[in-house]
Amino acid sequence: MNAAIRAVVRTAIFNNLEVAGVMNGYSGLLKSNFVEMGSHSVSKIISAGGTILKSSRCPEFLSFEGRKEAVENIKMHGIDALIVLGGDGSFHGADLLGKEFGLPVTGVPCTIDNDIFGTDFTIGYDTAINTAVKAIDQIRDTADSHNLLFFVEVMGRHSGFIALNTAIATGAESVLLPETPTNLEQLCNYLEKGRRKNKTSGIIIVAEGDEEGDAQEIARKVKIRLPDYETRVTILGHVQRGGSPTSNDRVLASIIGYEAVMALLKGTYGVMTGRINNEIAYTKLEDTYSKKNKINERLVEISKIIST
Ligand code: F6P
Repeated sequence: MNAAIRAVVRTAIFNNLEVAGVMNGYSGLLKSNFVEMGSHSVSKIISAGGTILKSSRCPEFLSFEGRKEAVENIKMHGIDALIVLGGDGSFHGADLLGKEFGLPVTGVPCTIDNDIFGTDFTIGYDTAINTAVKAIDQIRDTADSHNLLFFVEVMGRHSGFIALNTAIATGAESVLLPETPTNLEQLCNYLEKGRRKNKTSGIIIVAEGDEEGDAQEIARKVKIRLPDYETRVTILGHVQRGGSPTSNDRVLASIIGYEAVMALLKGTYGVMTGRINNEIAYTKLEDTYSKKNKINERLVEISKIIST
């Protein structure tokens, strides 16, 4: 997110605009928690994880009154337009600010889940995958040495994008995704087949949103069917949300941050600026949270074939 903030600030200043940062997301709008941002205020943040503006959940923003108060504060401080960095919940709020009060708003897709319609990749996703891959490579050493079957849970909320790509990149034995039906009988047969070929360890990636349960639950169910397997569970959790961003994320954030300002300057409001096939793409804010990115079936197939 910091790379996106930096790009927004610098592009705006280049175009002779003044920039205020809103601290703590929508809560900051309600508390008029604005900070003036100059070119220097975003120096050396491109390599830092998280967000210098901080973030928070804001239940007040779910009500019309809350949003009205936010817009009154925005106007009182002479702010003409808003760029919202976030995921589907943030974009829903942003959309309402535009629709209810005519505020010019654009969105920048920032979530590790990659579940925003209107962009091939969200900012943070690549870093999260790389973090998960590094951790799982390390887990693999223990799995191999001690002949263990690991269930590794990765984030993604209701989406399996992190899980699928992490599974391919780590050569995991299997991956369980919310988008595809999970069949534990099949998984156990597959593990048994591997064992007959002298496979003594394995890594199963579990997307946190899988319909069969979380990694603990799935490990428990598998253990009932295969009692002589030594199983372990690792939940990667918030480690996936931090750390210095990858170069892909930094570049993506820089481009999208720049384009978000340019969109406002062109009078293109109520949209998210994303990237599709390496081109800038504007998607109505409403579509970003009401439509869904489909999992790539071909990738699911490839992952199955190359893990056997
Ligand atoms: O949406 C990003 C995400 O990291 C999800 O992958 C995860 O389910 C959720 O946020 C965790 O949120 P919290 O930190 O509020 O538990």
